[in-house]
Amino acid sequence: MSQTRGRFDPPATEFQRRSVVVTGAASGMGAATARLFAAEGAAVFVVDRDAVGARRIADEIDARIIIGDVSESEFCDRAIAESVEATGRVDVLVNCAGVILRADGAGTDDAGWKRVMSVNVDGVFFMSRAAIPHMVEQQSGVIVNFGSIWGGIGAAGVVAYCASKGAVHQITRAMALDHATNGIRINAVAPGEVDTPMLSSGREMRPSDAELQELATETIPMKRLADPDEIARVVVFLASDHASYMTGAIVPVDAGFTAR
Ligand SMILES: NC(=O)c1ccc[n+]([C@@H]2O[C@H](COP(=O)([O-])OP(=O)(O)OC[C@H]3O[C@@H](n4cnc5c(N)ncnc54)[C@H](O)[C@@H]3O)[C@@H](O)[C@H]2O)c1
Repeated sequence: MSQTRGRFDPPATEFQRRSVVVTGAASGMGAATARLFAAEGAAVFVVDRDAVGARRIADEIDARIIIGDVSESEFCDRAIAESVEATGRVDVLVNCAGVILRADGAGTDDAGWKRVMSVNVDGVFFMSRAAIPHMVEQQSGVIVNFGSIWGGIGAAGVVAYCASKGAVHQITRAMALDHATNGIRINAVAPGEVDTPMLSSGREMRPSDAELQELATETIPMKRLADPDEIARVVVFLASDHASYMTGAIVPVDAGFTAR
């Protein structure tokens, strides 16, 4: 990705043969993001701990898969090394893998707290740390992190998740400043309520249940959940030269949820 100043026309084929690594790409918004980049002609790497889901998406979009757990730094180093070995570069890293724990402070045990922090925070940091030296060498690269509305405002019953997403927002800002002169841009999307398997995770309801849909939508100004594609399109925008003057930004994609 060139870091272009002023007026320009990004080529229609901006992502052709670009190397794009997407974590959490076996499901939900990661899968939607991987599909969009593949449609743009990118060489996509589906990184996930779910081998079956990753294979399904990779077969659909003709991507490569790298299976493992982003909370382990050795795995993150290997995932970036494999993508660089295959394509010679890493142009875009999307840190989408994440987990949620629906519990208040008293109900959050050590293991639950550590799991959420290690996947959502360590995973973003380890993957980014592994990619940055290649991007510095290239003097170009883009990282897009998945924050959340719950990274900027509080919510009851999800304390570990809120803490983890607040940390993702701060990792985004701090690393963006670290590398602002290296041709590297680092931003985050902060989605609202999105219709993915995570919505029902830890609940006794499936995403399609009317009760869950109602519960989730009643507090949303636009009164509907997001489709994963509606977030993925913003990720692709942030990764593109259309966003050439954006770094360190946390971009809400939340139907007005945090406008109040
Ligand atoms: N769904 C929402 O409403 C919502 C809102 C705001 C932010 N988010 C964030 O968006 C991101 C994507 O969420 P989603 O709703 O698409 O979830 P999802 O559950 O559909 O997908 C998450 C993916 O991450 C993978 N994953 C989880 N832990 C992993 C690990 N340790 N290593 C590798 N892969 C791992 C899962 O296997 C899965 O494929 C997450 O970071 C989530 O916190 C979701």
